[in-house]
Amino acid sequence: MLIAQMTDIHIGFEPDAKPEELNRIRFRQTLARLLDQPNTPDMLVLSGDLTDRGDAESFDKITKELEACPFPVYPLVGNHDTREELLRAFPDCPSEDGFIHYAVEGDGLRVLMLDTFEDGRHGGAFCDDRKAWLSDQLNSHSNTPTLIFMHHPPVVSGIGWMDPAENEPWMLRLAAAMRGHEQVLAIHCGHLHRPIVTRFAGIPLGVTPSVAPLVAMDLREISPDKPDDRALITTEPSTYALHRWDGTNLVTHYEKVSDWDVLARYGPHLQPMIRDMFVERE
Ligand SMILES: [Fe+2]
Ligand SMILES: [Fe+2]
Repeated sequence: MLIAQMTDIHIGFEPDAKPEELNRIRFRQTLARLLDQPNTPDMLVLSGDLTDRGDAESFDKITKELEACPFPVYPLVGNHDTREELLRAFPDCPSEDGFIHYAVEGDGLRVLMLDTFEDGRHGGAFCDDRKAWLSDQLNSHSNTPTLIFMHHPPVVSGIGWMDPAENEPWMLRLAAAMRGHEQVLAIHCGHLHRPIVTRFAGIPLGVTPSVAPLVAMDLREISPDKPDDRALITTEPSTYALHRWDGTNLVTHYEKVSDWDVLARYGPHLQPMIRDMFVERE
């Protein structure tokens, strides 16, 4: 099973840009690359911030582009979205008790989509109701390998203006629900607009970089009282992830969407090298 992930598309950041806003161009390019590479995904997860302002028009622009996808698309809600418009644009997307959280299964893997949205907050949220839902999901499928997607990374990355505080209550609730569930193979997030790898509650956690422009890689302390002219947002290329589940292991690949040249192809001249590489395997 191959699960593609794109995150933080932020359509509608420049709604009046002519002829077209940068974020929509980047989304088109990323989707085109995903559809034009040799590995066809079984599904695409959009892990939040599909839009910049949560408006209907921006969601409609997203779903229009997604018509090209021959596989199912599963959205998560980000802090820039609205649940109402997301559910209107994706009428098949499950929701429960007012939250956009649900499970998808395939090839013996369970994929859980979490909802970390709270109206009016930039950062994440995870209330007791959501904790109860997650605990129930994990307790009732304790032997099924599980992959979790959520918009907000519940960790301190070192990029201070984007980070939560240490041990925010919602992160502690989330950790309490996840701890001890060894079937959880990995957590993959968005929101940070930069790639990181770490652990949370003993579980490997990765952030997929954004489709929209990236957050600059600056780990120096930052003060809300003192603008220091540092770079915050850059035009580094968009990225998508491919999470590959082979029935035993889950491995994540990332591809940046930029131009490059092919320097070697698998022709007869390289066959001896490839053959040698196979022969030495035990
Ligand atoms: Fe974002
Ligand atoms: Fe976000």
